[in-house]
Amino acid sequence: MSSSTVITNIATLITNDPSLSDTDPLGTVRNAAVVLEGDRVAWTGEASKAPATDNRVDAGGRAVIPGFVDSHSHLVFAGDRTEEFHARMSGRPYGAGGIRTTVAATRAATDAELEANLTRYLREALRQGTTTFETKSGYGLTVEDEARALRIAAAHTDEVTFLGAHVVPPEFAEDPAAYVALVTGEMLDACAPHARWIDVFCEKGAFDGDQARAILTAGRARGLRPRVHANQLTYGPGVQLAVELDAASADHCTHLTDADVDALAQGGTVATLLPGAEFSTRAQWPDARRLLDAGATVALSTDCNPGSSFTSSMPFCLALAVRDMGMTPDEALWSATAGGARALRRDDVGRLAPGAYADLAVLDAPSHVHLAYRPGVPLVTEVWHRGVRVN
Ligand code: NIG
Ligand code: FE
Repeated sequence: MSSSTVITNIATLITNDPSLSDTDPLGTVRNAAVVLEGDRVAWTGEASKAPATDNRVDAGGRAVIPGFVDSHSHLVFAGDRTEEFHARMSGRPYGAGGIRTTVAATRAATDAELEANLTRYLREALRQGTTTFETKSGYGLTVEDEARALRIAAAHTDEVTFLGAHVVPPEFAEDPAAYVALVTGEMLDACAPHARWIDVFCEKGAFDGDQARAILTAGRARGLRPRVHANQLTYGPGVQLAVELDAASADHCTHLTDADVDALAQGGTVATLLPGAEFSTRAQWPDARRLLDAGATVALSTDCNPGSSFTSSMPFCLALAVRDMGMTPDEALWSATAGGARALRRDDVGRLAPGAYADLAVLDAPSHVHLAYRPGVPLVTEVWHRGVRVN
């Protein structure tokens, strides 16, 4: 039998377990304890009622939250784009063209370099409380380079996304239809075995609605499930297409019509908001309040990538969402944990309830509200992943 550990003396425990309360979606327990058995949560409740265990850890009156679920990142890349950021912050706007700079650097990198870069950002994210992450290809854009990116990612996470349709690479600039044929043919054949998801950057300057539909449908026929980069830079067909194809998530959702908001509220597609991108491109914030009031499910993620959002910090994104997107601290915490799990169609992460993975963060604060109240302060002091303390 695996050994059991109780983490006790928790001032505020966020479980995201709706069975604990009719009125509190965070399933908050005060003066709480959580019991871990092997890699799973075995019990949560008031500390005074905790069952006997092999080991005991004192949380010192701190808060415990589920580990963050970062359901959108682009971490298989080489180089950075400091110059582009510097220029943009000095007055030049952001376009999709910069992606090609990272494509050139990524193609030129060795496997070992890509792997080292990926693990560096993963460690950085884990220290800040991220215990589940999704990541994508999209900086290779050849059959070999896309398959290689997915192989490298799959060694670190189950949540791997094929994004061969990130932009049309320069060698296909004169014939984008031929690139779509490659993505839906030979590239998909090489990539499908290494991925769970397929994604398209559906945007002016990248792929239009018809191209996106063809790519997502081809991926679905190969067993990949759709998710879509939608409505980031302008209004467009991405969100409607995502809902129509029952994509797990429509990501960005910065420019939404009323019909887009209605579609998200009525469909099963999560609206994943990525405030790091708006921060780093000085763009308009996505309107989380409007989506929540309409009844849509909202997730928060980093979009960590070297161009539009070079942050691995879920606490930072959560603070932005509270400050600038109309979310309450409770909603933002839920969206960064349970919301991310929904966007990955998972129920074994993003919550601390019996049977879920024992993935959690201890905050050097008495409650989760401090994540937004004390922005920029490294409050995550302890992280447990699959029942093991990792820092
Ligand atoms: O999610 N929108 C498309 N892709 C990324 C940007 C990637 C880049 O600029 O390198 C995003 O923001
Ligand atoms: Fe992205």
